Amino acid sequence: MTVKLTVLATGGTIAGIAGSATAKDYSAGQIAIEDYLENVAGLGLSAELSAQQIANIDSADIGQGVWNDLHRATLAALGDPECQGIVITHGTDTLEETAFLLDLTLPVHKPVVMVGAMRPADAVGYDGLRNFANAMRVAGDGEAAGRGVLVVMGDRIFGGRDVRKVRTRGTEAFRGFPRESVGLVTPSSLEWFGAPWRAVGEPRFGWVDALPEVVIVAAYSGLCGEAVARCIGPDTRGVVVAGVGEGNMPEAARRELVRRCAQGLQVVRASRADEGLVDAEPDDAANGFVASRALNPAKARILLQLLIASGETERAAIQRAFDGR
Ligand code: SIN
Repeated sequence: MTVKLTVLATGGTIAGIAGSATAKDYSAGQIAIEDYLENVAGLGLSAELSAQQIANIDSADIGQGVWNDLHRATLAALGDPECQGIVITHGTDTLEETAFLLDLTLPVHKPVVMVGAMRPADAVGYDGLRNFANAMRVAGDGEAAGRGVLVVMGDRIFGGRDVRKVRTRGTEAFRGFPRESVGLVTPSSLEWFGAPWRAVGEPRFGWVDALPEVVIVAAYSGLCGEAVARCIGPDTRGVVVAGVGEGNMPEAARRELVRRCAQGLQVVRASRADEGLVDAEPDDAANGFVASRALNPAKARILLQLLIASGETERAAIQRAFDGR
């Protein structure tokens, strides 16, 4: 039976053009989704695709406006009885943020699969069509439902909460932490590691059209209190520290953030290291800080924004939200 999928396109390198098969520089978000699907049709895959262009931009420029449109369109597709699964094309640079945001704010009763590419469409060894074919396979599989928003890159399937871009170049640019990947996929095979883990039901957070301002402050040797203070504006409601090691920071930066916490700012300690947990420390309660656990700074920011938007202000409750999966 032919599976019916909805494709929501936002741009990125998967829709990018270099103008030459060997050029290094290229522009992301150049190919319209209708034209892209003509190439996909040439693959001979048995799926009926309906497409919508949400945006066609570099994912560095994706923010609240595109997120609002994408969330609305995904919800509509989830509610459409004709649609069996959703594929979202996206630039790889901020794919992990959009994936986690959607993971926290969508119901998961149908597959929602995000996909990108590391090479533009006219490059030698373009990875986008293979990734797209893989994403179609995952989105058409009933077993994908109940796993939250998934990301398909480089023949692997990642959980939206775990996925991270870990390399600037090359087709093996993504990894998952703490779950490395949740399945393997090729155009001719699909293998899940374990059963679906998410209860089908309401999303964890309601959608918010204007998320509060949360900034990421990178820690480094010599980071001073004044530099921290300059990152915090009048509308800033939270700070995620991309800390050294296990979410640490110089004493001067700590003192400035403790002072701001006492005035109502929410502070989360994450790590600038690629992988590893940032666990709560005895001093966190006195400082007013929260530990990000498995979330990297970009994802910790998304969760903190949603928590603040939902009216959560209690430190212990925010810590529990970071502790949970
Ligand atoms: C982007 O994120 O839009 C550009 C880079 C990419 O898609 O790989």
